[in-house]
This record gives sequence, C-alpha cells and structure tokens, in this order.
Amino acid sequence: AVVPADPPCCAMPHDHPKKPHDHSKKQKFLIDVDCGTDDAQAIMMALAAPAVKVLAITCVAGNTSLDNVCKNVLRVLKVCDRNEIPVYRGADTPILGIRIHASDFHGKDGLGDVPDPTAPGIENIQKEHAVDMMIKLANKHEGKLTLIATGPLTNLALALRMDPTFPKKLKDLYIMGGNMESRGNTTACGEFNFVADPEAAFMVLNDFTCPIYIATWEHTCRSKLSWDWYDQWVNMGTEKATFIKNIYAKSMQYSRSEKEVKEMVSGAGFVSCDSYAMAAAIDKSTLTSSIETVVTVELNGKFTRGMMVLDLIDELKRTNKAFVMNGCDMEKFKVLMENSVK
Ligand code: BDR
Ligand code: CA
Repeated sequence: AVVPADPPCCAMPHDHPKKPHDHSKKQKFLIDVDCGTDDAQAIMMALAAPAVKVLAITCVAGNTSLDNVCKNVLRVLKVCDRNEIPVYRGADTPILGIRIHASDFHGKDGLGDVPDPTAPGIENIQKEHAVDMMIKLANKHEGKLTLIATGPLTNLALALRMDPTFPKKLKDLYIMGGNMESRGNTTACGEFNFVADPEAAFMVLNDFTCPIYIATWEHTCRSKLSWDWYDQWVNMGTEKATFIKNIYAKSMQYSRSEKEVKEMVSGAGFVSCDSYAMAAAIDKSTLTSSIETVVTVELNGKFTRGMMVLDLIDELKRTNKAFVMNGCDMEKFKVLMENSVK
C-alpha cells in the first residue's frame, strides 16, 4: 500500500545547517512508554531528531513497574540533557487481568540493572495524570499531534473512554506492538505490549480513527541490524552511546544466546523494537512498505489472547484501517539510530 506522505517540512531533518529551526513547523510528539531498554533508545531517537519537538512523555506500567518506568524516563532525559520535557504517570495496571512484566529481558529496574546513583528522583514527575495530559495536548494541538506508543496501550484506551473525541484529534498514531503472522515473544501467538493489555489494544485498534501505523514483532525482527554494527554503535565513545551500552548489556547477552536466536523471527541480530515505530514517526520514508488493513485483537483464545488479527477479507466490515509496517529502509534507520547516541 502507498503510505501517505508528510508535508515536506516534517520529512526533512535539516532545512539549512545554519538556519535555526522554526519551532512552529516542528512535528509535535507525545510519547507513551513503559520505559525498558528499547523505549529508552526510541526516546533518544526522537530527542535527536531536529524536526521533532517532544511535548511530553507519558508513562504506563509494562516492562517494569510504573515507578520504575517514570524513573527510567527521567534518567534518559538526564543523559540527553533534556530535563525540561515534562513526564507524567499513567496507568499502573491493565484494563483487565493481571499485570505482567519483562524483567527477565530488561532487568528488574527495566534498564538493565545498572543503576545511576545521581539519577533524578520520582518527585520530578508532574502531578497531573498522564491521561488528562494526553487529552489536553490533543485538544491544544488538534490535528497536529503525533502519538507514539511503545508500551501496553492502557493510557490510550483510558483517554478514549474519558474523551471519545480524543483519537480524531490526533494527527496520527505509531504503535510498537502486536504481530502479523501469529508469531509471539511473550506467548506463542502474542507480542508483549498487546499481551500485557489485550483489552486496551482491542479498544485502540477498533475505535481509533486517526491514521495508525503498527510496527509488529515480526516487522521489527525482520529489520534487524548486524552484531558488527551494534558493537561499533555502542562503542562510539559518547556519553549517550555508553549509556546505551550499559543498559543493553544484560538484554543483549540474552539476545545473542542460541535460545533467543531460535525463538526469534528470522535469525540472529540486534533488534530495538520500539525504535521502528519511532523511526517511522520521525521520517515516514523509513517505512518502505505496509499492509493497509483492518486489524483487531483476540481477547478470548486460550492460546491466542492478545494476538493481533489482520482482517484481510473484510470480515469485520470496519472502515478504520491501519498501516501494518512491512519493510524498513535500513540505511535511513541506521542514521537515526546513530544520531540518537551522538
Ligand atoms: C515490546 O515489548 C517490550 O518488552 C519492548 O519494550 C517493546 O515495546 C516488544 O515486544
Ligand atoms: Ca516498550
């Protein structure tokens, strides 16, 4: 399917090297995260993009507890010297069901268990609830706000219930989550973000009417980077690269293991899942191909609860379709990854 193009000012990272950016023309980003290692990486990618203004970061429990998620975001902002960006606490449990986490992969603290004693404290989190702020920002920047969601979709589903007009006020929505060929990483058929809150994923995919772009588990796995590239990247010697190297050390040990390579879609290599959704939001031309289709989420299956379903035969008779990502320009993606740690 042809992916609609952004206006030129959004697609170009630089107008002119010496010309300061016209802030009114920047893409306005609201980022919703369950800050594990790849969320951290995705945030850093957005912060490094010259044509992007990050208005706020909202937190949801997922990879780790909500408190850890909040602290992790503050830590990422500190490393990037961007403490002025406001961070909000959102939902700490899914809509229904039990909370799961991914500490086996991301570490108990969600960032590889390499604590920074000088990290900012939780008192730096804004007082207002994340969902209130999401609704406020969508009203304030109606038609101009890009929402990037790289955790369970609980905050988005709550925003929808609190204000049913919320989705149509967004410019677009980029999600990392779900799967396109029933391949899972948390259950046999389920990807983590959707399995962590299937009801929320169902509500968002069924009821959001803005353009939706989805980086599925399979898409991210098929767009891997080589371990040689990874080793050079984390050894660039900058403070940000060293931060990434440290927080990723634990999870990459696992990713390089034989067990993980067997379980993964399409073999060995480095995958920073959330960064694919972020890259497409920053520069849509990183997305080379997508499947435009109605999507939903299985809620009842014994083995398939949380699995994303592609309605390619129009069984659901719904009009709001999503772009399921299916091809990444790896050269452009690498540049965004490299810029994020410079
Ligand atoms: C997703 O789940 C989380 O562990 C990652 O942060 C990513 O958002 C991958 O399935
Ligand atoms: Ca995530």
